[in-house]
Amino acid sequence: MHAVISLGGSILAPEKLDIKYTQEVAAELKKLVEKGHSIMVVTGGGARARNYIEAARQLKASEAYCDVIGIEVTRLNARILISALGNSAYPEPAKNFEEAVKFYRPGRIVVMGGTHIGHTTDSVSAMLAEYTGADLLIIATDVDGIYTSDPKIDPKAKKIDKISAKEFSKFALEHGQVEAGSTFVVDPHAAKIIERSKIRTVVINGRKLNEFERIIEGKSHTGTEILPR
Ligand code: UTP
Repeated sequence: MHAVISLGGSILAPEKLDIKYTQEVAAELKKLVEKGHSIMVVTGGGARARNYIEAARQLKASEAYCDVIGIEVTRLNARILISALGNSAYPEPAKNFEEAVKFYRPGRIVVMGGTHIGHTTDSVSAMLAEYTGADLLIIATDVDGIYTSDPKIDPKAKKIDKISAKEFSKFALEHGQVEAGSTFVVDPHAAKIIERSKIRTVVINGRKLNEFERIIEGKSHTGTEILPR
């Protein structure tokens, strides 16, 4: 099984880098590779990206320049995960999809951050999944899946267990934002790619580490299943 995993900055890189979580997620990824799965990971920017973007914005940098800063931070976070993966990962974060393919060998995890301005690492992971013909895209974030509204703000928010890619894309357009550092769980551009690629996509809580394997093996899980059709 070839899976692309989007590891949101909210779990990998909160205010203070979470060493224990990084070690645990790296161990889980290595286990999947040892079982013969091919794994590529896209790391998000997290709190540090937002801090840097906010500072640059206050200093009157353009939105595009803020995006470039965000991309640099996602690549820095990729290096943190690579550090934990050791010999199981290619030592450099791939800067684009061509490099991701070049760096890949069976048994070796490729890690990358952002690519170009105007989207988020969720989009990068959806495009990487499409480009490399992945069987599965897992979007690991800090909530249990897609909710009807933001569960951190709205106590009435309900988790959606299953949603069609088409409906999901409509939903993301209604709820998403496009400015640098925006926080909706999946950005609308990523949702569009997910819809067109027809790749099975699951949004999960990245802290529930045993869910990765369950999803890859087609077992029940607690996330949101985005159905290709
Ligand atoms: P993230 O992918 O982490 O964005 O990239 P996010 O959705 O705001 O945050 P998470 O998912 O909670 O971690 C951080 C920022 O870097 C820029 C964008 O400004 C984005 O908001 N970025 C990232 C790009 O412009 N292009 C990319 O390919 C990736």
